[in-house]
Amino acid sequence: MSRKIPFFNTKKTKEIETETEGIAPKHVAIIMDGNGRWAQKRGLPRIAGHKEGVTAVNKIVKEAVKSNVKILTLYTFSTENWKRPKSEIDFILRLPKEFLHIYLPELISNNVRIDTIGDFDALPDYTKDAVQYAVDKTKNNDGLLLNFALNYGSRLEIVHAVKQIINDIDESKLLIDSLDDNQFSKYLFTNGLSDPDLLIRTGGEQRLSNFMLWQLAYTEFCFSDVLWPDFNETNFKNAIEDYKQRKRRYGGI
Ligand code: IPE
Ligand code: IPE
Ligand code: MG
Repeated sequence: MSRKIPFFNTKKTKEIETETEGIAPKHVAIIMDGNGRWAQKRGLPRIAGHKEGVTAVNKIVKEAVKSNVKILTLYTFSTENWKRPKSEIDFILRLPKEFLHIYLPELISNNVRIDTIGDFDALPDYTKDAVQYAVDKTKNNDGLLLNFALNYGSRLEIVHAVKQIINDIDESKLLIDSLDDNQFSKYLFTNGLSDPDLLIRTGGEQRLSNFMLWQLAYTEFCFSDVLWPDFNETNFKNAIEDYKQRKRRYGGI
């Protein structure tokens, strides 16, 4: 027999701070798109674009540190990217190791902490080992959190959360009536992280491609035509300045 499940209370009277004008975003998320087209435009194989994209990652991480961003989430490999040719997938998934081999010492000296969101276990060992090493090495740093979305998909994340919630209700670890949006968020990969304030997508497409669908509910969006390997410090600073001019209302006035 099913019972009617009440909605959680939506009539929150608490005033939310909407005057964010002039304040830098705390959490910036980036869909780093356009590597393949960058390479093709130059008559190079797509993988050349992915390789060049690593240099852009380093530039933007450094700029994020300077801009006092607290969390930088980078969409690195999606659950849908497994549809690509195996050779391209292998190349992309070897890049974290290459990136960390070159830049980990610098990241450590910049007090950066590294973490991931996504289905980490399903990644190849060469990716997992390199990333896990960096996560362990930087776990006590308290500067920028550099969060790699690796084998990440929002629908996978939400379905996984629902399964865990059902399991916790079955085991009486969670009361169904205590489940609200705040409680639900705790079952996502992003548990403990604030939602992105600013989302940047490079490469000209204006879509989310299964990225942080729950977390982006009230995020400010910035779509740039610049292909990821060309995205530089100035482009990033401009996106932040543009964000600072916006007035976030969250449904209020
Ligand atoms: C983004 O660049 C990198 C990943 C998805 C891993 P793309 O490889 O999607 O480049 P385009 O969109 O084909 O140019
Ligand atoms: C999104 O880019 C995924 C990453 C940047 C990792 P895609 O290139 O995979 O997105 P679609 O296929 O154009 O939607
Ligand atoms: Mg793309």
